[in-house]
Amino acid sequence: MAERIQSIRGMHDILPEQGAAWSWLEARIRGVVEQYGYRRIRLPIVEKTELFARSIGAVTDIVEKEMYTFQDRNGESLTLRPEGTAGCVRAGIEHGLLHNQLVRLWYAGPMFRHERPQKGRYRQFHQAGVETFGMEGPDIDAELILMTARLWRELGLENVRLEVNSLGSAEARAAHRVALQAFLRSRIDELDEDSRRRLESNPLRVLDSKHPATREVLRDAPQLLEALDDASREHFDALCATLSEAGIEYVVNPSLVRGLDYYSRTVFEWITDELGAQGTICAGGRYDGLVDQLGGRSAPGCGFAMGLERLLDLLAIQGLLPEMPGPQVYVLSQGEAERRAALLLGEALRQARPDLDVLVHCGEGGLKAQMKRADRSGAQMALIIGEQERVEGSVTVRKLRGDSEQVKVAQTAVLAELQRLWPNA
Ligand code: HAM
Repeated sequence: MAERIQSIRGMHDILPEQGAAWSWLEARIRGVVEQYGYRRIRLPIVEKTELFARSIGAVTDIVEKEMYTFQDRNGESLTLRPEGTAGCVRAGIEHGLLHNQLVRLWYAGPMFRHERPQKGRYRQFHQAGVETFGMEGPDIDAELILMTARLWRELGLENVRLEVNSLGSAEARAAHRVALQAFLRSRIDELDEDSRRRLESNPLRVLDSKHPATREVLRDAPQLLEALDDASREHFDALCATLSEAGIEYVVNPSLVRGLDYYSRTVFEWITDELGAQGTICAGGRYDGLVDQLGGRSAPGCGFAMGLERLLDLLAIQGLLPEMPGPQVYVLSQGEAERRAALLLGEALRQARPDLDVLVHCGEGGLKAQMKRADRSGAQMALIIGEQERVEGSVTVRKLRGDSEQVKVAQTAVLAELQRLWPNA
């Protein structure tokens, strides 16, 4: 036997038995975002590498070490998208979508990051995200958060907490950066190696460090939230006031800086403790400078993305995933001519009742074995065509659940009989 080829580490097949949950979740997300007037945009999976370097930031984990980058046949450097915001902004600029209207877009699909795989962290994972443009006020930030809260409510999710922070204006961040750098240099001996390196290149990211000694040092660090410019402070206060008024619980976390450089002002994350280390199920914020940075006419932007694998894991832990629906009707037959008759009966049923899921056996095996399969498929009703039925133009209709009642009826009466034996159909 030839050697088997395995899937790539951190990139998973989504098997049919998981598929129902995926489709269900995607439909719920779509239902909620469309209720708020978001329109879907479908974006390419591959973009020019420079797009991500210029938006996410050259000195971020994603760009420095997690991108799947390759040379196209013409020598151009291309990258599998590690996230959706950059591509969405690129498309918005390219197609003139970002001006003269208040823009609300959503997208879903696979993203790629060469991270160390572990539970909840994959190299190919799926996000559903939204991006909005042209809205500067804190009301849209609040809407994004309310929309996610509504989704959690609709899904029945519990134990997710909201953390918010403001990163202020570019000027406030620059001033804070100087102060933070000076502070960290004064305590450099106490920092972990990664943080020492980041201190010079991207000191804000040191605030993200999980290293205990560094975290201890950070307790005394100058806080951006305390040095916000007036306009950002007002923006943030208004957001917090709206959240409180809407009854959304939140925690202000001054160390929440996010792993991507494009943010300004609001950032937020929805986190659960039920998924271990990878507990952030949804994250986002405002990026007022990004359109400009990517060569467009300046427009404020704000959005978020959620990790679908993490959401599904959490839904499973909380017992909120729906049952996978099987076929409702299973058609069995014995004999060659009967197999043809069964196939045609399946067709006629689907034609007459497009809402019914009908599975025709289409395989070998005696009636007993077929009956076992019908039972295991989860179907409610079995339709059986043996020689006698074929000759008579009849069908045996058998209830697979409950009292196993069985009757033979004319093929023309099958639908009425199904209805009688199984009124919910
Ligand atoms: P992010 O925080 O990098 O933000 O990713 C958003 C979400 O995607 C995370 O909270 C997590 O649920 C999921 N996620 C990220 N990496 C992985 C991974 N390796 N495996 C599984 N799930 C993962 C962004 O991507 C921004 N584009 C969000 C945004 C949109 N901000 C503004 N607009």
